[in-house]
Amino acid sequence: MNKIRLEHELAESIDKWGWKYHHLGIPTDKIMPNERYLPQFKFYVSGFSTSPFGIEWMRFEPDSPFDKLIQTVPHIAFEVQDLDFELANRDLKVIVEPNPPADGIRVAMIEHNGVPIELIEFENNKEMPATNNRKIQMNNFEHNRESWNELTTLHADSSFYDVDSFKKGKTSLNHIEIEELGNIKGKKILHLQCHFGMDTISLARLGAEVVGVDISDTSIQKATELSTELKIPAKFIRSNIYDIGNVLNETFDIVYTSYGAINWLDDLDKWAKIISRYLKPNGIFYMVEFHPLRYMLNDKSEIFYSYFKSKPLETVVEKSYTEKSEISNKNLIHVEWHHSLSEVVNSLVASKLTIAFLNEFPYQVYNCFPNLIENGKGKWLSEKFGDKIPLMYSIKAKIV
Ligand SMILES: C[S@@+](CC[C@H](N)C(=O)[O-])C[C@H]1O[C@@H](n2cnc3c(N)ncnc32)[C@H](O)[C@@H]1O
Repeated sequence: MNKIRLEHELAESIDKWGWKYHHLGIPTDKIMPNERYLPQFKFYVSGFSTSPFGIEWMRFEPDSPFDKLIQTVPHIAFEVQDLDFELANRDLKVIVEPNPPADGIRVAMIEHNGVPIELIEFENNKEMPATNNRKIQMNNFEHNRESWNELTTLHADSSFYDVDSFKKGKTSLNHIEIEELGNIKGKKILHLQCHFGMDTISLARLGAEVVGVDISDTSIQKATELSTELKIPAKFIRSNIYDIGNVLNETFDIVYTSYGAINWLDDLDKWAKIISRYLKPNGIFYMVEFHPLRYMLNDKSEIFYSYFKSKPLETVVEKSYTEKSEISNKNLIHVEWHHSLSEVVNSLVASKLTIAFLNEFPYQVYNCFPNLIENGKGKWLSEKFGDKIPLMYSIKAKIV
């Protein structure tokens, strides 16, 4: 809430966070026309259904259980798409915890500068994105394709990805995957969700013959440019990995995926079938990923999200995890899914993969989440939990 607002601009909550004005609730001690009594809250409400400006009058009984602030100071109410998300991510002071005043509705009250603010979530509108109703025309993957196009441009120019050092020969791979993959010289590798190709080209530098697949047009364009400029052969294909069968018809020694990939996929059984389809007999699948326990935490390092796969998690993309991260396009939406370890392992096993190892690490190799603290070069621990919780895991599996 620190942004300086210019006269012609909308309030940040409407402009950036996608909240929609719903009503203005004004306490009164006058008896108003057409009042409706709500016995559970001991107050009379009126005006909302007929006011073209959404003005709602509230007249409280002396023993109404409502917070005294709400009884004395007018409140503005906003409709939000995902109440839990807003409360977890916006650093708001909650004065009334989320509760369902009626079927299909959840509300919470927050306080800002002495003013109560109501947030309302309507069950039927939950699939509507916060910014507008483009969701009706675009599916989840189209949203992710669009947002990753925008992010890739920022990433390619960021010191987080450090493309300059990469061009001079520095690998973008980390010690974990280098050690756990072992010698890949001469191996054919399919890299799923390759982003703009740095890891794919780093695998090629180690002597592998590589194909990278990604849904983002910009990622594939930049990856191809990098491979051409560096004269390191690699094939890049733009495709949703779920549609890859339409464009790729070969098999590989290794299928590889890493860091922030499977959270963009809704169906891991389908994903594992694709992995299995593209492996040669005795082929290897290798992945290294952020741990599902990490995805449970909100920006205050509190357990907030479910460990298990739940509904698709939509966010308005405001910034990326790199330092050059401000997004100018305010209409971008990310849709993600969290996957538990058992979901990952069981999907692989169901597609005839035998697990060779599953390792868990108490650190991140990237400073790409909030509240991490460096503990040794390139090892980022949770500031709050230290080395007590896992932040990454890796799996190697073999096709049987
Ligand atoms: C965080 S990046 C992958 C991380 C990678 N290790 C890197 O180089 O940073 C996630 C990538 O997944 C891609 N992606 C998301 N959903 C996809 C899908 N359904 N099919 C293919 N690629 C997808 C995005 O375009 C993005 O490039």
